[in-house]
Amino acid sequence: MNPSGTSGPPHRTELSSHAEKLIRGRRATRAFLPDPVPEETLRAVFALAGAAPSNSNAQPWRVEVVSGAPRDRLADALQAAHAERRTTIDFPYDEDMYSPAQQRRRAAFGGELYGALGIGRDDVAARGAYDAESLRFYGAPHVAFLFVTGDAGARLAADVGIYTQTLLLAMTAYGIDSCPQGLLSFYADTVREELGVAEGKLLVGVSFGYADGAAPVNHLTTGRAPLEATTTFHR
Ligand SMILES: Cc1cc2nc3c(=O)[nH]c(=O)nc-3n(C[C@H](O)[C@H](O)[C@H](O)COP(=O)(O)O)c2cc1C
Repeated sequence: MNPSGTSGPPHRTELSSHAEKLIRGRRATRAFLPDPVPEETLRAVFALAGAAPSNSNAQPWRVEVVSGAPRDRLADALQAAHAERRTTIDFPYDEDMYSPAQQRRRAAFGGELYGALGIGRDDVAARGAYDAESLRFYGAPHVAFLFVTGDAGARLAADVGIYTQTLLLAMTAYGIDSCPQGLLSFYADTVREELGVAEGKLLVGVSFGYADGAAPVNHLTTGRAPLEATTTFHR
């Protein structure tokens, strides 16, 4: 149905065309140039992200944006924690949490990602080395850590998930590339200690800056399940 109530091609507006471009234009970037984002742009992006909706407008996010020397110190601390296997997670993680269909999608994605990186399917050592390197934020000059405050239960974490996507889209709109990194949340205590954060549970880190267009890994495109596999229209 289009707005006039008749069936036919969807009614496209200028805004919907921009939204298509913005939402489909965002993608995970895994190799960055060292160039920093100007301070004014940083402030504009994070101010825009704060327009995200949340249950009762509680806004249960706490955001730590890290650049420059603190970013370098944190990358070193994460390398050390990784080498010493000092992982700490605020939100439990279990490989078994995924359904069989989800596992199939993850396996397909992993094959594509490691293929783009030239890492073999069973090359555990190379995968481990890549994980360690990704704790340097893929070379990004900035990283934002998103903490859930309050009781940090599922409902409040969902609000911070919504904030996360709003942030990623705000970055895309300002020409900034990004990669949400769940991996960073496995080092919650290291992040807390380095940044002096006392409140909240660490949901995810987002590395961001400007993509290195020459890196093959940045040319990876991911598909999505067909609409019917995830969405039912009840009429
Ligand atoms: C919450 C969350 C955590 C993620 N964690 C990682 C991560 O640790 N490492 C990584 O390389 N990509 C990570 N990603 C990126 C996903 O792999 C990526 O979004 C997905 O494959 C779809 O690709 P696209 O973002 O390019 O559309 C994460 C994405 C989300 C939303």
